[in-house]
Amino acid sequence: MKNDKVLIFDTTLRDGEQAPGASMNKDEKLEIAFLLERMGVDIIEAGFPISSPGDFESVRQVAKAIKTSTVCGLARAIRKDIEAAYDAVKVAKNGRIHVFLATSKIHLEHKFKKSQDEILAMAIDAVKFAKSRISNVEFSPEDASRSEKKFLYRILEAVIKAGATTVNIPDTVGYKTPDEYGKLFSDIRNNVPNIYKAVISTHCHDDLGMGVANSLAAIKNGARQVECTVNGIGERAGNAAMEEIVMALKTRSDFYRCDTNIKTQEIYKASRLVSKMTGFLVPPNKAIVGANAFRHESGIHQDGVLKEKSTYEIMSPESVGVPVGNLFLGKHSGRHAFKVRLKALNVELKDADLDKAFEEFKKLADQKKQVFDEDLLAIVEDNNKVFEPVWELVDLINTSGMKITPKVEVTLKSKGKKFVKVSSGDGPVDACYKAIDKIIGIQGELLDYSIQSVTHGQDALGEVSVKVKINDKSVISRAASTDIIVASAKAYLNAINKVISTEDREAKSKGAPVASSRGRRSLL
Ligand code: KIV
Ligand code: ZN
Repeated sequence: MKNDKVLIFDTTLRDGEQAPGASMNKDEKLEIAFLLERMGVDIIEAGFPISSPGDFESVRQVAKAIKTSTVCGLARAIRKDIEAAYDAVKVAKNGRIHVFLATSKIHLEHKFKKSQDEILAMAIDAVKFAKSRISNVEFSPEDASRSEKKFLYRILEAVIKAGATTVNIPDTVGYKTPDEYGKLFSDIRNNVPNIYKAVISTHCHDDLGMGVANSLAAIKNGARQVECTVNGIGERAGNAAMEEIVMALKTRSDFYRCDTNIKTQEIYKASRLVSKMTGFLVPPNKAIVGANAFRHESGIHQDGVLKEKSTYEIMSPESVGVPVGNLFLGKHSGRHAFKVRLKALNVELKDADLDKAFEEFKKLADQKKQVFDEDLLAIVEDNNKVFEPVWELVDLINTSGMKITPKVEVTLKSKGKKFVKVSSGDGPVDACYKAIDKIIGIQGELLDYSIQSVTHGQDALGEVSVKVKINDKSVISRAASTDIIVASAKAYLNAINKVISTEDREAKSKGAPVASSRGRRSLL
C-alpha cells in the first residue's frame, strides 16, 4: 500500500519568532524562507501581518519571492486582521489565510467573556470573510485540546461549511499526552460529518516535552498536515521540531506509513541558519541536529559502528546533511578541492563569495591542523551576510592575564581607511567591545553572549553568538574563529553592520541620507 503524504507547515517565521528574543529582520526571514522552499516545505507561515508594519512587509516580501511553497499569513477572527493578511499574501503564487479563535472554556470566560454561540458566529463570519478574499483558508480553534469536545466538533463542522480547507487542532499550551491527543483526532474524524472535506492539521507546543510525540500521535490518527518549526523554536518551551517529525516519519515509515516532501539532506543547513539568525544555539544532545547526535563515544559503540553502522545508527548523518567530522582539506588543498568539498556539503557559492571563503579557509588552515566539514560550514556562514559590512576587523591585540587589567587594541577598516583604538575593560571581551565602540562612536549594550566550539580538539573554532542593543535596536549575530576574542569582536561587528544596514534601508525608504555615508561619528 502506498504511503500517505503529510504536508509540512513550517511556522518558524511566525510561532518560532514568538520565542522570547528570537525576532528576525526582513532579510533574515527571506533567507530562511528561501531555504524552507528549497527543502520542500509545503506551507510557510511567514508572519502575523496585522501585528506590526514590519511583520506585514516581511510576509509580503516572502509571498512575493516564494514560488513553490504556499505562503500563509496569520489573522485573528477579526475582519481588519483578515484584510491585512490578505493584503500581505495576495501577491503569492499560492497564498493562504490562517484564522484563529480560541474555543476553550478558560479562554471564552476569561479572555473574551463571550458565549459559545457568539464564538461560533465569529468563527463562521471570519472564515466566510477570508474565503471571500482567497480560496485557501485554514481555521485554528486556539486551545482546541482543552476545549469541550462537543463544541469543538460543532465549530469544526461550521467552519468547514463556511469554506475552511484546513482545520488545525492546536495543543496551544502543550498539555495533552500522546494518547489523549491522538484520540482527539480519531474522535474528530468520527464526530465531524464533513471532516473529509478538509485537511486535518496538528500544532503542538512543547511545555511538557511532548510536542513531537503528540504531533506523531495526531498523524497516526489521521492528521495530514503538521505545524512545526526548525529546531523546535517557538513560544515558551517551543513548538514541535520539524527535523524530528520529518525524520521520525522517514525512519519509521514502516510504522507511520506516511511520507513528506522534505529533502532531508537540507535539514542540518536549515538548523544552522535558524540558529544563526535567532542566536539560539542548538544543544549538543538535540535529536537529529545536535553536535553529538551522530557521535559515538563509548568504545563498545565505536567498535560496533566500525563493524556495521546499523548496530548503533538508525539513520545516517548524511541523510540529514550533518557533516560527519570528516577531514578532507588541509593547508595544501586548492580552490578546486575546496569548491568540490563545499558542493558535497550542499553549498554552492558565486565566484566572488567562493574566493572570499577560500581566503578564509587558507587562513584557518594555517592556524588549525585539521579543517573539518563543520569548520567549512562555519566559514561559509561567516561570509554569507545578507548585508554589505561597513566595518571590518583588520587586527586585534589582546593583553590579559590573572594579575593585569585586560587591554585590547583593535584596528578596524571602513571605506579603505583604518582606525585604531585601545581600551581596557572588565575582561578582554569587554575591553575589545569598548575599543570598537570608541572607533565607531557608539555605545552598544551587550544583552547576551554565548560561546560554543564548532568541532572538538584544542584548536577548534570557537563560535560566539551575541545579542546587542544599539540605538534601541536589538540584534543577534554570530562569528567563529580559533581565537575567541577575535570571534567575539567579529560577532559584535556583524551586529553593528546589521544595524547600519537596517538604518540605511530605513533612511533610503524615507529619502534621507544613509547612515553609512554620513561619516564615521554619525554612522549610527
Ligand atoms: O499555539 C497556537 O494555538 C497557535 C495558533 C495561532 C495556531 O499558535
Ligand atoms: Zn502555537
